[in-house]
Amino acid sequence: MNTIVHRILVALFLVLPAALSVAEQTRERISINDGWRFQKGDPTEVAGSLDYLKIRDWVLPSSAAFLKDPTVLPKRPEGSLGANVPFTRPGFDDSVWRKLDLPHDWAIEGPFKQEYKGKTGKLNYSGPVWYRKHVTLPGSDQGRRIYLDIDGAMSYATVWCNGEFVGGWPYGYSSFRLDLTPYAKPGSDNVLSIRLDNPDNSSRWYPGSGIYRNVWLVKTHAVHVGQWGTAITTPDVSVGAATVAAKVTIENQGTTPTQALVKTKLLFAGKPVTDLPAQTLQLPANGSALAAAEVTLPKPQLWDTTTSNLYTAVTTVEVGGKVVDLYETVFGIRSIAFTADNGFLLNGKRVQLNGVCNHHDLGALGTAFNTRAAQRQLEILKEMGVNALRTSHNPPAPELLDLCDAMGILVMDEAYDCWKEGKAKSGYNLLFDDWNEQDMRALLRRDRNHPSVVMWSIGNEVKELRDAVVGPAIGARLTAIAHEEDPTRPTTLGSNKPDASYNGIQKSVDVMGQNYQRGGYAEFHEKNPTIPLVGSETSSAVSSRGEYFFQTPEQVADQNALASEAEQSDKPSKRGKQAPKKLTQTQPFEVISSVKTEGRADFQISSYDLYGPAWAIIPDHDFAMLEKNPHVAGQFVWTGFDYLGEPTPYNADSTNLLNFTDPEERAKMAKEMKELGELPVPSRSSYFGIMDLAGFKKDRFYLYQAYWRPDFPMVHVLPHWTWPERVGQGVPVFLYTSGDEAELFLNGKSLGRKKKAQYEYRLRWDDVIYAPGELKAVAYKNGKEWATEVVKTAGPAIALTLEVDRSLIAADRKDLSFVTATIRDENGTEVPRSKNLLALNVTGPGEIVATDNGDATSHASFQSPNIKAYNGLALAIIRATGPGKISVTAKAEGLKDARVVITGQ
Ligand code: GAL
Repeated sequence: MNTIVHRILVALFLVLPAALSVAEQTRERISINDGWRFQKGDPTEVAGSLDYLKIRDWVLPSSAAFLKDPTVLPKRPEGSLGANVPFTRPGFDDSVWRKLDLPHDWAIEGPFKQEYKGKTGKLNYSGPVWYRKHVTLPGSDQGRRIYLDIDGAMSYATVWCNGEFVGGWPYGYSSFRLDLTPYAKPGSDNVLSIRLDNPDNSSRWYPGSGIYRNVWLVKTHAVHVGQWGTAITTPDVSVGAATVAAKVTIENQGTTPTQALVKTKLLFAGKPVTDLPAQTLQLPANGSALAAAEVTLPKPQLWDTTTSNLYTAVTTVEVGGKVVDLYETVFGIRSIAFTADNGFLLNGKRVQLNGVCNHHDLGALGTAFNTRAAQRQLEILKEMGVNALRTSHNPPAPELLDLCDAMGILVMDEAYDCWKEGKAKSGYNLLFDDWNEQDMRALLRRDRNHPSVVMWSIGNEVKELRDAVVGPAIGARLTAIAHEEDPTRPTTLGSNKPDASYNGIQKSVDVMGQNYQRGGYAEFHEKNPTIPLVGSETSSAVSSRGEYFFQTPEQVADQNALASEAEQSDKPSKRGKQAPKKLTQTQPFEVISSVKTEGRADFQISSYDLYGPAWAIIPDHDFAMLEKNPHVAGQFVWTGFDYLGEPTPYNADSTNLLNFTDPEERAKMAKEMKELGELPVPSRSSYFGIMDLAGFKKDRFYLYQAYWRPDFPMVHVLPHWTWPERVGQGVPVFLYTSGDEAELFLNGKSLGRKKKAQYEYRLRWDDVIYAPGELKAVAYKNGKEWATEVVKTAGPAIALTLEVDRSLIAADRKDLSFVTATIRDENGTEVPRSKNLLALNVTGPGEIVATDNGDATSHASFQSPNIKAYNGLALAIIRATGPGKISVTAKAEGLKDARVVITGQ
């Protein structure tokens, strides 16, 4: 049984007399994801008539409930919008349109094209598209309210029901509700037509395109809990007792005033715990009223990052002695505080935010939201020690927050990447004036009951940060809106402008967020001693999984030339302040560049984790800065996973210039990008991820794990140890360990034992001379053996293995199994640089949803069953189409086949 229906039935059993039927008496929330028809392009009749600016007055009234003063809205024009457009007509024959289920991202199907911009994934995501669906409403729906809830549609959604224009919502990341009641026909077939029109050049990353989140039909009695109508807070929390306060907005859509009795019951683990006092409300016709009640709960089960205890508030609304609505709100009991001196406190205890930023795409699945894919990402992040997530730079899918609630992950819930001044020509800047209040209130109302959400970000690196008048004014207004909707959480923003910490903007939020402000933490505290601070965006280190680059003889010669030049001149060297060291023939071990912006080759980036763009800070330095500044609440690393778009440093476009304030640095970057633009840059996804696009761990995963999980015994050795071309040459070896010292052995011979100094987070053996065989690391903690790892030289590839993350999945077409293919030698050792082409095949009731290998330069279709391994690995994402055994096989020329079985049930 669907868990939501199941929960409602369980709750009903607890609160309702047996005779009442769900359909008659309370709300229904029905998934209408399946069976849509889809078509790209407008029919000729549209001829520009549905461009947003032409229909703005039709669309804006949809947002009335989210404006403090809805009288500022234009009046909906007379007439029937789009009546001449055949796709809106109920009788239109859409049977030749493509049939599909939501969530759907049409743009992910590609093709990738070299001429498309790298910053948005080398995919086309713009242009009008239409979705249509027939929905049969039973006659018993007569008299009920019927709503369409769209969790996210990218973008500029407009909706018709039975040929009549209903409304729309342009911001692609907002969830919204439209009232279908005036247009719906109970007892007959109804047709929904949805047009989206995602503009070109509207994003700095791949935004996806389509109805990419869930869509619901919600049916209620005229008197019901309003949209996101509950606000549950826990104003006093201690181990002994907690106050739980519930504010519930009840709407009466009926034409006569009425009286309603509102009761809220608290459940824990499905069992009733206590009741809030019942309240009687007088509801005006076509109006609403607020029920507010609170209760003290002894011995509450607190929510925190290790024990994510969740309560459910079940609100019932009775009219004339009959229950007419039942509404559930999941919440947690916890206290949060951001302090200026001691970071973030959860239930009174300091918790360092070990966070990552993520964009919303799910790699090869594109932006089509999938709960299991998101859960897998969070599982990998938790394994690394993550306890916090920033939904950069937009409101997430609602289910992501459910997952964070259940998994104990603290969330910075972000509204915008820009305000009035844009970063992309057709970005949110075009909507900000008309829509920012509605989008902000919608986000707050939707997400305010999630215990995981601990702060609202009102913007990322908005350009107004540099304006000491406009910036603080907009910041203060957005903060005021946030406080009105949710008085319990602070606002923050991500600032990349040093001035914004001092020009007044810092006072417009409750917690200041600094992005990449090297050295800014201490100064901020000194000058703003009462304002809490968080590292809202950090690191931006870049790497490609499994790539390690050494300096070529030409680079060594070049470096020597520069070193001599620097020696002979008093001017700064060509490489900026860092004067290169001179290398000699007898120093074969000087083989990796430690210059932050180097480590590049073949459009990949070396995984020695020393590299990043000019503004980047390598993870080690972030750790040290935070250790030295315990007043800072922690950090959100850019990024947990690689994402589509923004392939810095291989951008051939100008988005990165936005990151530079210093004109000299900016000019340098502009020149570099111009040079790159002359090359056909293939890169279509980022290198920032700690995991690659397929979700495979890069070495950096272990650098963070070592620091964030000090009690988890681990040691990780890099690079791989298969370098036939480097016998007798230097190959530096790095160890990441949660221990405090380690000894490295090559073929049984000790290369020395090293201890981490203060503010040192990796152990380095830069002078290892490569010989094939076995590299072994033994880590120690407090003098005791703590963890070991062995890395072996691989022989020729002869076999393939397939491993699944889960072998039993729900046969609901939504659940997924992630299958990893690994290329191996005869001893089962992974062959690190192998790139064999695999042919995947599925038999039984299952199918391949997507394939990937994590290579940021690949233009292969994610839908292809044939995929090249990238540095030894490839991924297939499988779903069950029905119950039974699904057999997945992989073949590659010259390798033994592999097979794995997944059960769908
Ligand atoms: C930041 C920005 C992010 C991303 C990142 C790359 O300045 O907020 O969205 O562009 O740089 O380093």
